[in-house]
Amino acid sequence: MSIHNPVKRLFLTLTEGVYVIGVGEGDLGNAFTATSVMQASMRPPLLAIAVNPENASYPLIVERGVFCVTVLQRDQSALADLFGNHSARDENKLCAVPWHAAPSGAPVLDQGLAYFDCRVVASHPAGDHVVMLAEVTGGDFLQPRARPLRYDELGNMDGSDELLPDHLGASRGDDDVRSNEQ
Ligand SMILES: Cc1cc2nc3c(=O)[nH]c(=O)nc-3n(C[C@H](O)[C@H](O)[C@H](O)COP(=O)(O)O)c2cc1C
Repeated sequence: MSIHNPVKRLFLTLTEGVYVIGVGEGDLGNAFTATSVMQASMRPPLLAIAVNPENASYPLIVERGVFCVTVLQRDQSALADLFGNHSARDENKLCAVPWHAAPSGAPVLDQGLAYFDCRVVASHPAGDHVVMLAEVTGGDFLQPRARPLRYDELGNMDGSDELLPDHLGASRGDDDVRSNEQ
């Protein structure tokens, strides 16, 4: 699929993986696709994720203070689509795949490459998302020899070609500030 938005093409030069973040516990659990996941510290091991607070998953993370990151394998774009383009508001996504609970209680997809069990230690608003910093409390390989799926292999699956601004530099807000200063 061709990507038209120049800002999206620029962001695609950042090499990112594709993950399914499990939240909640047991039959009340849920999971959503995320690409905004990064290692933030070595000692202690910390991960940062960016979560859209409009996701049905967001209040479940806030409520329990834990989540689990399943790393997707290269041939698992269908899982990225299932968990990223459907919401728990409409269906129980976890019914469609085998999963088990991590020690935190959050769901891990059995078919993933690896998982990280995490406990939230801080969060900060970041535009239309909330950045959550979390301590990695556990984790393991699920398929040690598999290769990870990359975000740039998904084309415009998340619709960000239409969501990102189509240019960088002065935003409408900056223009307003300048016109107020004149
Ligand atoms: C490839 C892809 C990457 C995504 N990355 C993120 C992300 O980093 N953070 C986020 O909050 N949502 C991300 N999303 C959107 C959520 O996965 C999507 O809104 C999902 O339906 C939320 O599910 P929920 O309402 O059941 O929580 C992504 C979606 C896709 C398809």
